[in-house]
Amino acid sequence: MSSPPSTTPTHRHPHLSTAMLLDRALSARRGSAVSDDEDDTATTTTDDKSKTKKHQNFFFLATNRASHYLSRFGSGAYCVCALAIFLFLFLVSSFLFSSRGFVCISSSLSPVSRAGFFGFDGLESDFGALGVPWCRTKRGKKVEWTSKDVLKGLEEFVPIYETRPIKNNMYGMGFDHSFGLWFMAHWLKPDLMIESGAFKGHSTWVLRQAMPDTPIISITPRHPEKYLKKGPAYVDGNCTYYAGKDFVDFGNIDWSKTMKKHGISDLSQVLIFFDDHQNELKRIKQALKAGFRHLVFEDNYDTGTGDHYSLRQICDQSYISGGGHSCFRDSDEARIRSRRKKFWEKAVDIEELCGPGDQWWGVRGYMRDNFNHSNKPISYAEHFDNSRFVESILDVYWELPPIAGPSLTHQTRYDPARATSPIVEDGRFGLFQRLGLSRLDNSVFNGYTQMVYLQISEESR
Ligand SMILES: C[S@@+](CC[C@H](N)C(=O)[O-])C[C@H]1O[C@@H](n2cnc3c(N)ncnc32)[C@H](O)[C@@H]1O
Repeated sequence: MSSPPSTTPTHRHPHLSTAMLLDRALSARRGSAVSDDEDDTATTTTDDKSKTKKHQNFFFLATNRASHYLSRFGSGAYCVCALAIFLFLFLVSSFLFSSRGFVCISSSLSPVSRAGFFGFDGLESDFGALGVPWCRTKRGKKVEWTSKDVLKGLEEFVPIYETRPIKNNMYGMGFDHSFGLWFMAHWLKPDLMIESGAFKGHSTWVLRQAMPDTPIISITPRHPEKYLKKGPAYVDGNCTYYAGKDFVDFGNIDWSKTMKKHGISDLSQVLIFFDDHQNELKRIKQALKAGFRHLVFEDNYDTGTGDHYSLRQICDQSYISGGGHSCFRDSDEARIRSRRKKFWEKAVDIEELCGPGDQWWGVRGYMRDNFNHSNKPISYAEHFDNSRFVESILDVYWELPPIAGPSLTHQTRYDPARATSPIVEDGRFGLFQRLGLSRLDNSVFNGYTQMVYLQISEESR
């Protein structure tokens, strides 16, 4: 891929403080996912500490004043009153500074309904118990972009997204993944972009916005032009369509011939986007065989969900933090899952997670494929081998974080306990508004399924 676009020096950036906050937001749960600027993180931490200090100073001064005033009275009264005031101030300050809900969440929800909305006392309290599995890579290589770059990209993308031709893209990508695809294509600057699964053409349009002059190959059974008869669709002028009668599955295309035809000699300059709901292990093997290196999967379904075997599912292993499950009905995990299920539509409780014989991997012990039109039971040993294989060819694994927290987007589908921290964290309404995200309809934030970017290469022997 071409070298990444140069970034504006941060000291000149109009949203520097926002970027700093976001840096922290992105790295809080999984700091290694992006290469963060440590200096900025340090500054943010200092800022936060100074805020706390101000409040501590206020508390100290108030107690001091009160004791000074009371010292004019007798020592017995002094002791009782000082103790009462101290206790009162202590309780008030503890409430203010220890209640995460009070500090972070936007004002439209009362604390009680807020607690209900988030599954009792918050988004992150159960996080440790469920956790977010992450695929291991060969040498721990990270993506080149930082959380600051992601935030800058978000600012740039919102007005672009507002001009999309297909406003209602039900069954296709919503805002989160549209941004993710745009950002990665824009950053990586490939010489050719290939998409598998175009539907009405929204993702083709997103790729075109990211790279205005780069050729696209679009593989999809039904040509997007067919949708034009019924409503909005997007057909690109610089795109070769393997669609309609010309449709050939990605795995059956002669890629070496096709690349020659497109003048591509270096396959590491090609970006492939899969949104075709096929078994991702199958797609990875096909891409690897052809020699491709940069892949994006739109639907990276969590264990127990979705219509195809995904990277998330493959890497959900007991030796990975946040990975591996127990089907024991009286476990903490079972209790947490049943509680969270009440609040998040896509959350799965232990009954849904575990199939007969307590098989939890994939979807209830099945490796699904092709929109779940085909599925195959797999043993735990096979599932384990699959993850070892993936780890052996994986150079980079990066999940796009959700764009914003659910108190901002009002999404109620994916469970935040199984996702990394959002780019715009709950409570940051000012930032949400400044980025223009409050102008978008809530429905566009509903489809987040952990879009993932991979860099792969043949196992070195
Ligand atoms: C979820 S839609 C894609 C949405 C689209 N990327 C968007 O953002 O609007 C899945 C698409 O995959 C197509 N599809 C089904 N089987 C496929 C295959 N084997 N290869 C490529 N596309 C396939 C479907 O016809 C459908 O258009």
